[in-house]
Amino acid sequence: MLSLRTLVFASLAFTAGVSAIPTGNLHKRLVNDLSHDLVDEPTALGRFKLLNQSINNFIFNFVDPNLVPSPKGKDGFVVLATAANFPATIGNNVAMGVGFMGPCGLNVPHLHPRSSELLLSLGGSLVFGTITENGGSFITGTLKDHEATVFPVGSIHFQQNIGCDPVQFVAGFGSDDPGRLDIGPALFQDLPADYVGVSLGDIGVKEVEDIAAKIPLNVAWGTQQCLDTCGLTRAGQWTPDAVAKAKRQFDEFMSGKMKGRDFAGLPTGGDSKN
Ligand SMILES: *[C@@H]1O[C@H](CO)[C@@H](O)[C@H](O)[C@H]1NC(C)=O
Repeated sequence: MLSLRTLVFASLAFTAGVSAIPTGNLHKRLVNDLSHDLVDEPTALGRFKLLNQSINNFIFNFVDPNLVPSPKGKDGFVVLATAANFPATIGNNVAMGVGFMGPCGLNVPHLHPRSSELLLSLGGSLVFGTITENGGSFITGTLKDHEATVFPVGSIHFQQNIGCDPVQFVAGFGSDDPGRLDIGPALFQDLPADYVGVSLGDIGVKEVEDIAAKIPLNVAWGTQQCLDTCGLTRAGQWTPDAVAKAKRQFDEFMSGKMKGRDFAGLPTGGDSKN
């Protein structure tokens, strides 16, 4: 499984070509220095001139293997371009996330404290759900390929790939620093268990801690119904059929019948904690 993932990412790097952008710690330091200069610069023209020192400052590669977040969930990951890692966004009220969702992948319930979101499904169907505030009701629907929906700022929302092939999403934000709060970890891992326990009907501290220990990393496996349909198991292991399918896809990729994007986000299993 690991070797498949290595091959996939190696091939992504290959198709992306040899980049002139410095990588690793040097890249991080340069981004950091430039970001602070940009924040100190009061005018948009001044910020443009700082960025204009290299055309690379204007370009962000969402399939750069260095950007794959670690740790990542069992069934995909989200790559973000924000003020934190793409200085060109600073002061421009934009950011973007690209989700690489494996079969049945679930982008777990979360909210963005500083931005609404326009979410586009690419390459398959996503079921989504959202609730905005007390008194507003829960909304759910299905986005087919190239359909989009809006999640208002502060709303709790999630998406799940309801197919057995990888799907991507593109999430546009109206802030260079939208932020993200995952609801399960915030409630069960970050808030004090005694207060959470009583607020849930006095269920007990141990019960809160038991739930906290089970919370998976994002992107997580989705509903059991979807896993059953696709022949996947929540334990994070590929079934023989799923392995065979991934190998077929990889062969097709190598023979040029698929684009790199058809691959990213395939779950690899076994290399993350939950
Ligand atoms: C931006 O960079 C280009 C290429 O180096 C240069 O010709 C141009 O004058 C620069 N613009 C500004 C406003 O600095």
